[in-house]
Amino acid sequence: MDKLVRFGVSMDQELVKAFDEISSKRGYKNRSQAIGDLIRRALVEYNWEFCTTAQVAGTLSLIYDHHTIGLDSLLNQIQHDYHHIIVSSVHVHLDHDNCLEVLVLRGKVEEIRRLSDSLLTQKGVKNGNLSIVAVGENGSGQAEHQHD
Ligand code: NI
Repeated sequence: MDKLVRFGVSMDQELVKAFDEISSKRGYKNRSQAIGDLIRRALVEYNWEFCTTAQVAGTLSLIYDHHTIGLDSLLNQIQHDYHHIIVSSVHVHLDHDNCLEVLVLRGKVEEIRRLSDSLLTQKGVKNGNLSIVAVGENGSGQAEHQHD
């Protein structure tokens, strides 16, 4: 673990009380752990919104109807164009019509966005969700900016 730093924060009493209640309900053992997680999430969101070259990791899930003509091969072709940021993928035949595909992604924000948009906007793709869970190579929350 990295070096720990202690710091004091002043905050509205009611706000702290509500935060502690929710944190303990969710299973956090202490306030430091809960605040640490909040800060990591804020860093991921910040990089996602404002730094297109930050390295992030996450998952993209999509549901589509495999009867839609040409869709299977189109989605496959798009994924091959982005093979360098797709770490892994799982395909589940949900029922007679629907396929669920989950892609594990790692790469620059701008590329992940582009891949996600080009898959989710295809006709026959019914629903989808992109979830970014980590920033930086090791998920530490520290963005390693790569400008090229
Ligand atoms: Ni399928």
